[in-house]
Amino acid sequence: MTEAPAIPAPAASSHWERNAEFWVRIIRERRDRYRTELTDEAVLAAVGPCHGLDVLDAGCGEGYLTREIARLGARQVTGADKSPALIAAARAVSAGQPAARFREADVAALPFGDASFDLGIVNHVLNDLPDITSPVRELARVLRPGGRLVILMLHPCFYGDRAERQAIRRTLPVADYFAAREIEQHFEVDGIVSPEPTTSWVRPLEAYTEAITGSGLYLTSLTEPHPSDAQLGASEWWRENFPRPLFLLITAARPMTSGQASCQVSNSPTSRRGSA
Ligand SMILES: C[S@@+](CC[C@H](N)C(=O)[O-])C[C@H]1O[C@@H](n2cnc3c(N)ncnc32)[C@H](O)[C@@H]1O
Repeated sequence: MTEAPAIPAPAASSHWERNAEFWVRIIRERRDRYRTELTDEAVLAAVGPCHGLDVLDAGCGEGYLTREIARLGARQVTGADKSPALIAAARAVSAGQPAARFREADVAALPFGDASFDLGIVNHVLNDLPDITSPVRELARVLRPGGRLVILMLHPCFYGDRAERQAIRRTLPVADYFAAREIEQHFEVDGIVSPEPTTSWVRPLEAYTEAITGSGLYLTSLTEPHPSDAQLGASEWWRENFPRPLFLLITAARPMTSGQASCQVSNSPTSRRGSA
């Protein structure tokens, strides 16, 4: 993989700096059931076999997916994140995994050369970004021809503040849907509240597809990870905490050649509804 010359260290995303300890604890103690019982499996299914691939985990946080993809046999997985505290936390537990490495970087100005990666993973990051156009363009730039992008995010059609709480079932006015919505709230995971509020951005669906196709990628799937009937039947937690669609998983790819069609969509649902 080629690396562009070093760029100045990115400014720290301050709320992530101040929430870093909280975040590391939530992830490493596996307290976020949305991830551990739903979205991680959906993301890894979308990633598929990754043996021998060069992978970018953009906005990697404390790096658990970076480590997991390295464990699955990727040649090299680079976790990149704007938060120095999270990159330090990632490095601290990854010394025994040479295939996993970490770098402070802003996803809007990635310090990697063109066509450096076979696969990009963007897990719960696009909602953090006030602008998605430059980051998606950067992600497209660093993908090799034929390379793939896996993006998991909050469902833009349904997510509102505290949307995961069953008690709040208000609908979203159309005018609000078509405006970028900024949601500031403390994380609360398994009864633990983040010290700092975080800001999330939710945009209409078309903003994501435009950013993707406008960067020269084509969509390959669009699915909505949700609990299976079995999960809903067996778990009151899921019945209470999944009152509406909360997640969207989009995969895209860079054409092998510049002439390849730009809108191939083939849905292979991550839905586990009806599965055992
Ligand atoms: C919700 S966390 C997700 C972290 C990780 N992907 C995971 O799933 O655990 C969002 C992450 O995006 C990072 N982030 C926010 N803005 C960024 C940017 N412009 N460039 C790189 N990382 C950014 C934050 O530091 C934080 O680690």
